[in-house]
Amino acid sequence: MNKITININGEERTLEVKSNLRLLDLIREDLALTGTKEGCGVGECGACTVIMNGEAVNSCLVMATQADGATIETVENLEKSAPELQESFVEHGAIQCGFCTPGMLMSAKALLDKVPNPSDMQIKTALEGNMCRCTGYIPIMKSVKEASKKIKK
Ligand code: FES
Ligand code: FES
Repeated sequence: MNKITININGEERTLEVKSNLRLLDLIREDLALTGTKEGCGVGECGACTVIMNGEAVNSCLVMATQADGATIETVENLEKSAPELQESFVEHGAIQCGFCTPGMLMSAKALLDKVPNPSDMQIKTALEGNMCRCTGYIPIMKSVKEASKKIKK
């Protein structure tokens, strides 16, 4: 077992983890933050996206031990940090089954943290690792664009 300390959604946690535990499992199972989803498990779909040290990462590809000392934000924190983003997805019909939504939101949040007024191309690039099987990407992109106008800079 390995002892790691992470700051997750503003809270510092020290945990004992196995060497082969993925960050995704730590988040969903050990911390019971089940908003983060597992789709493919191999870095292809983006459903498991969280923000680690300011970057959107696929948590299925990060080992829990690699997160030692990291600051992590999951979708559960958006209610506090960027409610405008969640509201915008609802308002613009960017959610159908919702399975991709946490990952989409976190990729968008990582973008907006760095680029408050992104261009369409910047939004497209930020979301290129996130797959949606239902909605199509236009309402999702529109939601991010409109949220960027509302989020306090
Ligand atoms: S579950 Fe991680 S990228 Fe698909
Ligand atoms: S809303 Fe169903 S996969 Fe995106």
